[in-house]
Amino acid sequence: MGNEVIAIDNLNDYYDVNLKLERLTSLKNFDKFTFLKIDLIDKNNIMALFEQYSPDIVVNLGAQAGVRYSITNPQSYIDSNIIGFFNILEACRNSYVKGKYPVQHLVYASSSSVYGLNKKVPYTVNDKVDKPVSLYAATKRSDELMAHVYSNLYFIPTTGLRFFTVYGPMGRPDMAYFKFTDKMVRGEHIQLYNSGDMYRDFTYIEDIITGIVNILNKLPNKDGVPYKIYNIGNNKPESLIYFVNTLEKCLLKEGIILQPVTREFLPMQPGDVYQTYADIDNLVQDFNFKPSTSLETGLGHFVKWYKEYYLTKKA
Ligand SMILES: NC(=O)c1ccc[n+]([C@@H]2O[C@H](COP(=O)([O-])OP(=O)(O)OC[C@H]3O[C@@H](n4cnc5c(N)ncnc54)[C@H](O)[C@@H]3O)[C@@H](O)[C@H]2O)c1
Repeated sequence: MGNEVIAIDNLNDYYDVNLKLERLTSLKNFDKFTFLKIDLIDKNNIMALFEQYSPDIVVNLGAQAGVRYSITNPQSYIDSNIIGFFNILEACRNSYVKGKYPVQHLVYASSSSVYGLNKKVPYTVNDKVDKPVSLYAATKRSDELMAHVYSNLYFIPTTGLRFFTVYGPMGRPDMAYFKFTDKMVRGEHIQLYNSGDMYRDFTYIEDIITGIVNILNKLPNKDGVPYKIYNIGNNKPESLIYFVNTLEKCLLKEGIILQPVTREFLPMQPGDVYQTYADIDNLVQDFNFKPSTSLETGLGHFVKWYKEYYLTKKA
């Protein structure tokens, strides 16, 4: 703790930029925190950044996220997730060639979407993952493959983290749980595919953060190559209908909605995945850690934040 943190983001408008700025406002209270508006695809700037600050540990969470958007905007996935990540890898490599202080560990976000068409659950990091169903997933898998090359060729320690449906305060407004909340608040009915009989390993943001912090300090090693991948998921898939019922209870409790909302039950959509479920055995083994926040607690925090941010402040 107490380390200097240099954060970069291009603050793009994929979703409300004010939310990104709000997150930064709370971070600016930390005196060892510096924010720089830099684009991952700007290689010269990324290289200069690494030369100026010689980071010990690099955490790359920046990416074009979202599965659906990759259908209409494929280019931004190639730009941010492939070229952007390649630039980070190159800057890490360059730190070994030039810098006195090479990068000790690169930790980066991958995604449960790499499991694509896999049917076997729970998903384990040793499963074959070569059947992605979105360009987003393909770029995340490509990141893992590129990281392996740099770990193998240049001995740069890299750890990839496959996150499973992360939710919580200040989360992404394009995600389903956020959209359900918006709809419930507006009094609109909500649509549940496969009648809500689908399972997701919803993971609370603080569990993700604890996982990342644990992992930062442990250098990876797999068969002599400093490369590792972990799933970070709740390891306890919950049905969509249970998720929506819990969210509704939290909204009722906070007085944000005054009556239950109507559900419209629809058939399964083509391409939908019935269940995501993370095997986290290697996470537990290596860190004695597993995400533990219940849906009731996590959604409770989310709803309190939503009320404060969207309904109280702006009222
Ligand atoms: N939220 C989830 O459920 C989930 C699940 C699996 C994986 N992930 C991954 O976790 C990471 C964080 O996701 P998130 O949900 O916080 O998404 P997010 O969109 O809120 O965060 C990503 C950030 O990266 C920035 N960014 C995008 N392209 C950039 C570029 N070219 N240069 C600089 N900055 C850029 C965006 O402005 C954004 O602030 C992403 O890599 C995402 O793919 C998230």
